[in-house]
Amino acid sequence: MPLSGFGRAVQSAIFREGVFGRRPAVPTDGTRLEDAARRAMSRKGFAYVAGSAGSEATARANLAAFDRWRVVPRMLVDTSERDTGVTLFGRHHQSPLIAAPVGVLSMAHSEADLAAARGAREQGVTHVISTQASVPMEQIARELAGSGHWYQLYWSSDDELFESLVRRAEACGSETIVVTLDTAYLAWRPRDLDLGHLPFARGEGIAQYTSDPVFQRLVAERVVAAGEQPRPRPRPTPAGVGTLLSMSRNHPGNTRANLASPVPRAAVETFLDVFPRPTLTWDDLPRLRALTSLPIVLKGVLHPDDARRAIDAGVDGVYVSNHGGRQVDRSVAALEALPAVVEAVRSREASVRVIFDSGIRCGADVFVALCLGADVVGVGRPLAYGLSLAGSAGVSEVLRNLRAEVDLMMALTGCTSLSDLTEDRLVQVGGPSA
Ligand SMILES: Cc1cc2nc3c(=O)[nH]c(=O)nc-3n(C[C@H](O)[C@H](O)[C@H](O)COP(=O)(O)O)c2cc1C
Repeated sequence: MPLSGFGRAVQSAIFREGVFGRRPAVPTDGTRLEDAARRAMSRKGFAYVAGSAGSEATARANLAAFDRWRVVPRMLVDTSERDTGVTLFGRHHQSPLIAAPVGVLSMAHSEADLAAARGAREQGVTHVISTQASVPMEQIARELAGSGHWYQLYWSSDDELFESLVRRAEACGSETIVVTLDTAYLAWRPRDLDLGHLPFARGEGIAQYTSDPVFQRLVAERVVAAGEQPRPRPRPTPAGVGTLLSMSRNHPGNTRANLASPVPRAAVETFLDVFPRPTLTWDDLPRLRALTSLPIVLKGVLHPDDARRAIDAGVDGVYVSNHGGRQVDRSVAALEALPAVVEAVRSREASVRVIFDSGIRCGADVFVALCLGADVVGVGRPLAYGLSLAGSAGVSEVLRNLRAEVDLMMALTGCTSLSDLTEDRLVQVGGPSA
């Protein structure tokens, strides 16, 4: 199938299936996708994925920011041949999409990151492996063999662990290191707080840690130290037993043996100690630059001055994101921050790439973000929703639909390549702060 006909081909395939009474595995509309996922997921799982910081004003602002831009289609352009491809960090991407790093996918589907990776690979979309994944990075990388992947790093407070994670990412073939800057602490997230639920405390989403030799050593040291200072055991409650089961199931090895072992609980406690590095500053970046020759992308940049500092620190990409509104309540919408960051980057170092996420729900959102200067955009929550509904097929369909919609948007607006997507294709309504 020629790439130029991708959007039409997907449309036709859906309608042909419809003749036989078959419907798409996942809704093609972002709102209906979320509604369907709400029904499919557990209460705690949906709260974790859909929830945001505080009043969730940032998450709403992320979506509303797109509504302030309107596309101005151009006519009488031959768009029969279209190219949605982009080359980034040495790899050609068929579409301007990446699968944003999303942790704890076990909350959405039992096959978690493995299914997500398969779905992304099927669509030729680069998968970003999360430090909070439910599956060790080496296994996810095997699933992605040949199709390329990036590794998202949470910079641990333990130096050796930080180095070990980077080394493992290199060894399993990750092509770029994405350092997430906006999560020095977990934000105040009322949906999770009201359910008293933190997946990590149940041993979920810490597979990169429990599979790491440095982390395993830290856990072993903790177990020995705890053995020397016996603590009174709290009386078991049903919820406590559930947590113990969850920790034991999620820990590597035999669940029954884990239930009798102090290690899974020590692993959770160790993780909670080493997860954030609140002392991280610009002065730390040279250590990462010296550690790896892979391209480095900083995720969570919202201010043009931070973009300039990132470039001065020698990074290869700036990732404009507010973590889908999950970290700072009443933050600037990511899309509102994008033009100034792009301007700062382009005027400082044109070769530095700009990645964007937070609020991408449809092809027109992708189109607008690219017109405002992003090189590629990350798809976050919709992937988790597709995963919850139909496993890898659901992830693949979400990405396929976005690719198809972007392609049709280009066809209908007089664009034949991504270089045509420029700011003069848009008008802003209601002013920047409407
Ligand atoms: C459930 C969930 C888990 C996430 N986990 C991570 C993570 O481990 N690392 C990271 O850098 N970003 C993480 N993010 C943020 C995403 O990479 C992305 O920035 C965000 O989903 C974009 O917002 P949107 O999904 O509303 O478009 C997570 C987001 C969600 C929804």
